[in-house]
Amino acid sequence: MPKLLVVFLLAAIAVTVSWRPPQKVELAVDVSKAGAKIDRNIFGQFAEHLGHGIYEGVWVGPDSKIPNTRGIRNDVVNALRAIKVPNVRWPGGCFADEYHWRKGVGQTRAVTLNSNWGGVTEPNSFGTHEYMDFLNQIGSEAYLSVNVGSGTPQEAAEWLEYLTTPQTTSLQKERAANGHPAPYQIPYLGIGNESWDCGGNMSPDYYVSQLKIYSRFVRNFNPAQQGNNQMLRIAVGPGGNEPRFAEWTEAVMKAWATRQWSWDMNGLSMHNYTVVRWPPAFKSVGFGETEYAQILKSTLDMDGLINKYSAIMDQYDPQKRIALVVDEWGAWYAPLPGSNPGFLVQQNSQRDAILAALNLNIFARHADRVRMANIAQMINVLQSMIITDKEKMVLTPTYYVFKMYVPFQDATFVPVTFNAGSYTQGDITLPRVDAIAAKDTNGKLWLEMTNVDPNQPTEVEVSLSGITAKSAAGETLTAPKVDSLNTFASPNTVIPKAISARVQAGKLALTLEPKSVTVISVGQ
Ligand code: AHR
Repeated sequence: MPKLLVVFLLAAIAVTVSWRPPQKVELAVDVSKAGAKIDRNIFGQFAEHLGHGIYEGVWVGPDSKIPNTRGIRNDVVNALRAIKVPNVRWPGGCFADEYHWRKGVGQTRAVTLNSNWGGVTEPNSFGTHEYMDFLNQIGSEAYLSVNVGSGTPQEAAEWLEYLTTPQTTSLQKERAANGHPAPYQIPYLGIGNESWDCGGNMSPDYYVSQLKIYSRFVRNFNPAQQGNNQMLRIAVGPGGNEPRFAEWTEAVMKAWATRQWSWDMNGLSMHNYTVVRWPPAFKSVGFGETEYAQILKSTLDMDGLINKYSAIMDQYDPQKRIALVVDEWGAWYAPLPGSNPGFLVQQNSQRDAILAALNLNIFARHADRVRMANIAQMINVLQSMIITDKEKMVLTPTYYVFKMYVPFQDATFVPVTFNAGSYTQGDITLPRVDAIAAKDTNGKLWLEMTNVDPNQPTEVEVSLSGITAKSAAGETLTAPKVDSLNTFASPNTVIPKAISARVQAGKLALTLEPKSVTVISVGQ
């Protein structure tokens, strides 16, 4: 046989062996079976005084050459406005239990130490008024964490009086002198942070006694927040899968179920990072498919944890009055080489976009119980939306996922049934496809579909009941590699692009690219 023909035949065999037809996944959406509201608050953010999260990320000061409004970066504000951030949890995290609000108001600010995060100095230039101004600029709401660990109920009560009273008390006058005569609104109040650990290493019973005191005395006086619009108080809840967290959840929920009239709570916090094991060792860039599969496998544990703690909550609160608030979640990787390890600096890749979509979908499926969540953290820390370096700013793949999901804010969950298929890497097998659907406040149907497989496209066929589709189009987010990212030099490597579905006999057909997040709306 001529040598050339042999080479040709071998090449043809190789192509035939490696080529596999795209897997097909069928989805069925029944619009008549609407579920719970997907609370917009599950798209909340977390901004702690940690590394360059606040300083440089949000706050550059009014004298900075970086364009700013009253010290707050304009580029960051514009980017955050576009993702409609519903709430921002502040000032921590572990930092909250060492934060003393008085040091962050008035003309002269005390310089303190940030002993949790790198031992650096804390100028307190970004304090209460700057936080409220920032929220106002981005169109968001306050989720304030009060200091239970090293503060007092009196300190926290006075902070709330300072913020919310319309009456001419000394604290109101001080607020007015500091530039804000009208009371602020504080819709969400966190009572401590990880009080079982960095927040004071408390036993469940000790924390419950603190919770009762803070809940009783830390009052909101804003007339606009009485009656049906009351500030929601969020208690510290579990932080992982260890038995002590089940015990903690039991203790808090039991106390609530047997409470006296004099205290109450409305939410129970849960923290869960995708880390695989502590200390965080996975690289945030420069990894391969094995690490991609390991991290995504680990992130899916979120569903089991929510099921576990929801089941405990159901025993004491079958009517689901208490929200499960996942107010710290996201990927936690090894610090970037050369960075201060206390600053939790990591990169953000297409893997994180997939991870974000999978978690948001889990929250949406638990929308009856999970009514708030806060990704950690908003800027320059852990799984961030935005990375800055002096005057430069870049939007991460995770940012684009949050942007694509904006239509799901306050939309009504619509169940989707599908056989997800599978994707296998080594000894890890994951559902190949994930999907959610929801009807927005105008009645428009939206679908999100994630193709987890980083190598193969997936053909999707969607049958719809209760709606006659005429068109379907939206955006898809994918990237050349699992660790592709946006950099200051190449900010558009991972950005959404337009996609449309074919409509055939009322069904939608489209191809999901490998490792992609796709959001489409259905035109009738
Ligand atoms: O997000 C970083 C830290 O993680 C928070 O400060 C703390 O609450 C958690 O352990």
